[in-house]
Amino acid sequence: HYSIDSEFRRSIIINAGLSLAGFFVTVRMIPVVARLLLRRGICGLDINKEGTPRGNVKVPEALGIVVALVFFVVWHAPYYAAIACVAFMTLLGFVDDGLNVPWRVKLVLPSIAALSLLMAYTGHTTIVIPKPLVPHIGIEILDLGWIYKLYMWLLAIFCTNSINIHAGLNGLEVGQTVVITYAILIHNIMQIGTLTDRQYKLPHVFSIYFVQPLLATSLALFSYNWYPSSVFVGDTYTYFAGMTLAVVGILGHFSETLLIFFLPQVLNFLLSLPQLSGYIPCPRHRLPRFNHQTGLLTGTNDGTLINFFLRNLGPKSEKSLCIYLLVFQGIACGFCFLLRHFLAGWYK
Ligand code: UD1
Ligand code: MG
Repeated sequence: HYSIDSEFRRSIIINAGLSLAGFFVTVRMIPVVARLLLRRGICGLDINKEGTPRGNVKVPEALGIVVALVFFVVWHAPYYAAIACVAFMTLLGFVDDGLNVPWRVKLVLPSIAALSLLMAYTGHTTIVIPKPLVPHIGIEILDLGWIYKLYMWLLAIFCTNSINIHAGLNGLEVGQTVVITYAILIHNIMQIGTLTDRQYKLPHVFSIYFVQPLLATSLALFSYNWYPSSVFVGDTYTYFAGMTLAVVGILGHFSETLLIFFLPQVLNFLLSLPQLSGYIPCPRHRLPRFNHQTGLLTGTNDGTLINFFLRNLGPKSEKSLCIYLLVFQGIACGFCFLLRHFLAGWYK
């Protein structure tokens, strides 16, 4: 019953077809590129399997580069600032995977890439005041000007880093991206169905052009990165995916919704703050402890959502812990839809 204009529908279906092709190309390319990366020494050890035979195997790293390459081929909407921003971030991620940039420097990399998006941004800088507040404030729409741009900048930095630091279990980096991307796709389809004004539908159509190839290529990577990982995604992928999601939220005008989809990442960020700020020392890796006797992971004192789950749920295998975290991600997205449903009247 969704009333997407036939023109929109056509381009979305073409994009979906290309994305599907992108999925198969990615699946075929990953093993080939993985061999090349391994030969070049771009690889890592699977830390949560330390001491087991698998823990000694070098796993090729930075396979996000395949996802990004295929994504750029599939993606063809005319918004070059967006593509420049995501491409720049991917490049920085690949450099990071090759050079191992100190992690405090990593934190600022997205802020450089996001500048290219902000420079080119010509969209609105306004927010809609919730209806119950309108009588008190006296206006329906508030123009925030440069403050809005600052907010977008911070959002891009947050999204990119927050996916990268909610990591360290096989499948988690891509898995969270897949869940969020799927939620965004549903959100866009629902919005296109609900909104009547073409002008308001357009950002959501635009957003779908991004989201479909991201979902398809990420699923291909997921099939290799799921437990036990035969490839690692690298910061190439986490930066690429985080920045793409930020760009989608910003240009699709639903950054508040995006932030609720990112609830687990927000929690992980808050738990990480003492270590990120340097108040408590932050080791190179903040991974759980692997127990050789039981084969299970237990939590450490590092401030991460992974450890929070382990401390509260008890020891878990790497695979089931990742499933728990991905289900939690799904619940956060469901909660967001519920919230939007109940608050809908506030913004009509
Ligand atoms: C971020 C986290 C770090 C975490 C790392 C795991 C912060 C500040 N940084 O660092 O705590 O340890 O991600 O990715 O929170 N690896 C595994 N299993 C996996 C995925 C990765 O063992 O499922 C290991 C591999 O050795 C791989 C390495 O992590 O080579 C990749 O780490 P990298 O992405 O470079 O770490 P950061 O993003 O700097
Ligand atoms: Mg990383």
